[in-house]
Amino acid sequence: MPKGFTLWFTGLSGSGKSTLANEVADRLRSAGRLVDLLDGDVVRQHLSKGLSFSKEDRDTNIRRIGFVAHLVTRHGGIAITAAISPYRAIRDENRRLIGNFVEVYAKCPLDVCEQRDIKGLYKKAREAVAAGKGMSFTGVDDPYEEPLKPEIVVDTSAVSVQEGARQIIDELKKLGYLEAAGAAPEADARAHHEFIPNELLAKAEAAFKKAGRVHTDVLLKELHVGFTTAAHCIDRLAEQGKIKLT
Ligand SMILES: Nc1ncnc2c1ncn2[C@@H]1O[C@H](COP(=O)(O)OP(=O)(O)OP(=O)(O)O)[C@@H](O)[C@H]1O
Ligand SMILES: [Mg+2]
Repeated sequence: MPKGFTLWFTGLSGSGKSTLANEVADRLRSAGRLVDLLDGDVVRQHLSKGLSFSKEDRDTNIRRIGFVAHLVTRHGGIAITAAISPYRAIRDENRRLIGNFVEVYAKCPLDVCEQRDIKGLYKKAREAVAAGKGMSFTGVDDPYEEPLKPEIVVDTSAVSVQEGARQIIDELKKLGYLEAAGAAPEADARAHHEFIPNELLAKAEAAFKKAGRVHTDVLLKELHVGFTTAAHCIDRLAEQGKIKLT
């Protein structure tokens, strides 16, 4: 089974999440992968109909998206989410739930997003604020919390959609989520072993050294991986003689 993962886009309205998500989804599908795109607007029509934009309802919306992404991921699919997901704590909660979680920050200055204003929502939000009503619109009268350690940052005010998608695919290969061209022989080894990218193993080894102990808890806390991945890291490092199990 191919390795499932969640590609979690976050960023202001108009930053380019949906545009990039669709482009990346097309490329992954062309490569034969199963992809589910959970886009903010579509999710709100189905999974989260009736939820408002209050902090509580936004959190519920993002948790629901995270739960569906978790199901897709654990069955070897690729879940791509493209909701604003403005609050760091809930994104991190989903990161812990999902494990194979790749956060993509569609980074774009507010004034550029506002100039794009493809849905006319910034104009509405400014008018609402001026009228003293407000509409809890992210970036205008509701906060956006930038990711602190996203796996990927695409500066959508500086690069084209094609270039942004290329950066994402390249990074996914580096992280070990996609086969690099010509890497087929590894498939056999993966059939017997949950595949853990070397980069992650190196980080796990370093985390154990720093903590002075070998335990899945260390990886859950330090690397924000899920329990299964943490357990596999320990297995691999022990097989390679890099850590000692007591
Ligand atoms: N490098 C880029 N990546 C993505 N979008 C870009 C880029 N350069 C320009 N754009 C344009 O920016 C706009 C982004 O709109 P898009 O609907 O993708 O934003 P969004 O982040 O999904 O917003 P919302 O949260 O409101 O759904 C599009 O019109 C797109 O063509
Ligand atoms: Mg969108």
